[in-house]
Formats: sequence, structure tokens, C-alpha cells
Amino acid sequence: MPEDFIVTPWEVRGEVDYDKLIEKFGTQKVTDDLLKHIEKHASPLHVMLRRGLFYSHRDMNWILEQHEKGNTFYLYTGRGPSGHTTIGHLVPWILCKWLQDNFKNKFYFQLTEDEKFMFDESKTLEDTKKYAYENALDVIALGFDPSLTNIFLDTEYIHHLYPIAIKVAKRVTFSTVRAVFGFTQSNNIGSIFYTSIQAAPAFLGSVLEGKNIPCLIPCGIDQDPHFRIARDAAEHLGYYKPALLHNKLLPSLTGSDKMSASIPGSSIFTTDSEDDIKKSVQNAFTGGRVSIEEQKKLGGDPDICSVYKYYLYLFIPDDKELQDRYEECRSGNIMCGECKQHLISLVWGFLKDHQEKREKARDVLEDFMLRD
Ligand code: TRP
Repeated sequence: MPEDFIVTPWEVRGEVDYDKLIEKFGTQKVTDDLLKHIEKHASPLHVMLRRGLFYSHRDMNWILEQHEKGNTFYLYTGRGPSGHTTIGHLVPWILCKWLQDNFKNKFYFQLTEDEKFMFDESKTLEDTKKYAYENALDVIALGFDPSLTNIFLDTEYIHHLYPIAIKVAKRVTFSTVRAVFGFTQSNNIGSIFYTSIQAAPAFLGSVLEGKNIPCLIPCGIDQDPHFRIARDAAEHLGYYKPALLHNKLLPSLTGSDKMSASIPGSSIFTTDSEDDIKKSVQNAFTGGRVSIEEQKKLGGDPDICSVYKYYLYLFIPDDKELQDRYEECRSGNIMCGECKQHLISLVWGFLKDHQEKREKARDVLEDFMLRD
């Protein structure tokens, strides 16, 4: 039977059914009980948790229990530097910042310039390295505590990563990576080894401190296959299995499910000018009708609207304000043009401030870098 959608770390195709993905991947739903448990330690809950953008997990209850016993977890996430950062990329990083504020965790951030070099025929290592440093500025701009935060590039921190990576690699067969990632005979051999490099930071915190420390990885659900492999290897290595908290992929403004950084105008980059944002948002896919008259009569459909999803998950955290907008749309009182203008002003309000912090981050970059 042909699959109706595909989600791997390198490809998202079709209309993603997120509940089905939980079954396919064998993860757990984020339940109200779990949210209450998190809220005991971190209140108020972050809007991305409250509104279900983070919707799936592995071993999150165990992570909280360990924290309650005094064995607090560290955080790990990362970024494949294929270009500038989009708002979609920020999602797990923003959650990490919120977790760090509440739980005081150490935070490891991996930049995989090796991955993007290996998987993209057209990119040089210089290109991906350059973007790695650009992306690091976005991480720092979110306000992480430098004394708890460690950012590294794979090729520059390899002395520490390699011994862990080969211990993972020894436990992963070619037939496993072929099945998990869909590799064929024509994939280059670097790609086949790569998952062991992405697994390494899931144990790095324990290696550096010389004791077993739980690790929590907030990430897009598309990255889960790497960590299924890491979890299997953990037992052999004698470390805890890393726990995960997965977000849905922020839809692109053009309507398809994952924000694609490669289709111009479908994503908002953190480096965009106000004009760039206007262009992207003005072309956005909405729940509007074919004509103004019809929309006044029938109302719009916020449930399918990409502009509304940006409000829901990021830009309108206030419940009452969001509800008002929803109803104004449904009742045909507000048209898409006006609504897009509102999103433009919210996004630009956020990015203007982010871009200032991003520039300041250049001066403090070294305070955050983990060096071999
Ligand atoms: N493979 C990820 C990407 O393409 C980058 C990455 C490395 C990552 N380590 C991670 C993502 C840990 C999430 C969690 O963006």
C-alpha cells in the first residue's frame, strides 16, 4: 500500500497525520496528566506545550521523576546549518530556553555542518560552517545562560565526539540505517555513519561529568529516527536512554506541512527585513473565501489557515485574544488582508528585537562555544 505521507529527518512529504506518526514511530502522546506534571515544576506552562505544538514524547515522565530525585537532566538539541535560521527552527530552541529557566539545566547545542555538507551535493564545507556560526547567533539571541550553555560544531569538537560516535556506530548495522532512513546503495558512506554523530551528544553530558546523567532532547518529530537508534545503543554503552519531547513541524506559509527553507517566500528567516516578511506573509495560504463578499457572508476558516497557526503556536499567547480573532474570522468580520497585516506587525516586532540581540551575540559567541 502506498504511504500517504513520509517523515524522515531529510524529507517530509504529503499531508502529515501526526497521530498516525505517533503510532508509526512508537512514541507517547503528551497527555494532560503529563502537562500537569511538568507544570508542577515549571509554571505557567509554555504556550507551545499548552496548545499542543509539543505533542509527543519518549520517557518524559521518567525525566521528571529523576529531577524529583535530585538527578536533574541536561538538554540537548541541534541544527543542520543548511542556511539561515527560520522561525520554525526556533521552536525547540525556545522550549529549551524555557526549560533552562525553570529547571536550570545544562544545555548542549550541536551544529551539524558535516551533515549538511554530506547530504547536499551542492554545498561546500565552508558554506555549511559559515551558516553554523550564523545559526549559533540565533541560539544565543534567545537568552540562554552562558554558564550553562555549550554550542559546538561537529568538525571542530570532533575529538570529544568521535570516541562516543564510534561506540554507537559499532552497535548500528547497515540494515538498520537502511530500514530507518531509507538509504540505498547509492548513498555516500558518510551519510550512513552520520547518525552516530548525532547520537553522541545524547551521552556527551554523562561523558564530560564522568557520571550517568539523564538527557532530554526537545526536537522536531522528524528527528526521532536518529534517537531511536541512539536509545538502542544506550543500553550497550551503559548510559541512560535519552528522553525526547517532539514538536509538530510548523507549517509553511504556503500551506504545506513542514516549513520548507528552500521554497522562496514559504519561510520567514530570522534575518528577514520587514519587507521580506511582508512579501512572505502576503502570499500566505489562508482560510479565506474566493471573494470578499463571500467571506463576509460565510466567514473564513481559521482551522486550515497558516496565518492562524502562527498566532496559535507562537504569536498570540493570550487565550482571550486568540479566541476573539478566531471568532472574528469565523463570523466574517475580519478579512485576510487585515489579518495578514496583524501577523506582519507581530512577526516584525519579534524579529526586530531578535536581530538586535543576534548582532550583540557576535561579541559573546566564544562564551558559549565548547572547544576541543
Ligand atoms: N539533523 C538536525 C537538522 O537537520 C540537526 C541536529 C543535530 C539535531 N542534533 C540534533 C536536531 C538534536 C534536533 C536534536 O536540523
